[in-house]
Amino acid sequence: MAAVKRVGVLTSGGDSPGLNAAIRGLGKAAIGYGMEVVGFRDGFRGLAENRHVPLDATALSGILTVGGTILGTSRDKPHRMSVDGHVVDMTAAIVENCERNGLDALVCLGGGGTQKNALRLARAGVNVVTLPKTIDNDVALTDLTVGFATALEVATEAIDRLHSTAHSHHRIIVAEVMGHRAGWLALGAGLAGGADVILIPEIPYDVERIADAIRERSERGTNFSIVAIAEGARNREESRAYRAAESRREAAADRAERDAAAAELAALEADHAGHTLRLARRLEELTGLESRVTILGYVQRGGTPSPVDRLLATRLGSAAADLVRDGVFGVMVAARRDGTVAVPLERVAGKRKTVPPDHTWVETARHVGTCLGD
Ligand code: F6P
Repeated sequence: MAAVKRVGVLTSGGDSPGLNAAIRGLGKAAIGYGMEVVGFRDGFRGLAENRHVPLDATALSGILTVGGTILGTSRDKPHRMSVDGHVVDMTAAIVENCERNGLDALVCLGGGGTQKNALRLARAGVNVVTLPKTIDNDVALTDLTVGFATALEVATEAIDRLHSTAHSHHRIIVAEVMGHRAGWLALGAGLAGGADVILIPEIPYDVERIADAIRERSERGTNFSIVAIAEGARNREESRAYRAAESRREAAADRAERDAAAAELAALEADHAGHTLRLARRLEELTGLESRVTILGYVQRGGTPSPVDRLLATRLGSAAADLVRDGVFGVMVAARRDGTVAVPLERVAGKRKTVPPDHTWVETARHVGTCLGD
């Protein structure tokens, strides 16, 4: 095993609180092992364009509590990058830049897409280690992702605050929570914030069931309700159509079939825009209660990381430095209980961790009388 001297690091995909804490954890531990650390700007694009900064002790100081990522991020993929208006495979340029910079290892901090992209680079010969980060908590085979805990706090506080205004005005307030195609954030914040209705992608909803639950509350004398809805939640018909298109894409025999299914999915995504507003209007019609919508949006991703995220990010970052030192590559550093495990990227890439229908949070929500729309 050759000694690692120089480590590259980049952040890719949507930002999340705790990224800087992870960069710091990795960097400080790596410097402690005598390594040099270099940060690449704006995800895989910065690596393809060879834009980098030294991450020495001074650069790593004071960033633990800072939100976002000091390196910048992007959703660019190595094999499909837009360059001068054309989509170009930049994998070879990236491998060349790794060599030119004398990188013995590359640590990529990102969500599901980043795990796939990192695997592509590993297959192209780069010594890759990844860390799971996303507020969506949907990366496979890790207990938690960096950013989720903070977003959960922010969304829960929002739901707490919406209670008093919904109560005062006798309204339904529908709060849309991020999470992409997973319901972890809406379910966690809804449960912690005591939402009356929680709607997640994993449990397709029936609007009549939701209206029944709200009417029952009114009959008991409580004429306001909070609905926490995940951005990816769909009613039963929409969900059926979406899943059918997804299965067609997965089963596609050739590129033409795959492209057709992808176009169908894109059209369904486009139709989905504004769904929270439509749901609120329909609930107003069905219940007679005035309805309002609050889309929590990017506030969930911004700002200083919570202590839970700082701990997680520091733990995963420093564990990544250990793996690099030990020459263990092609793996993601997963959080497992109080520790970490190295999971082969082949097992993570292309998988999504969604909420199992019998998950303890789902069962708990049902036990306390929360309507899940089914
Ligand atoms: O993956 C994190 C996330 O915030 C999702 O919850 C959301 O669907 C998406 O990113 C938004 O992406 P963008 O920053 O590209 O608008």
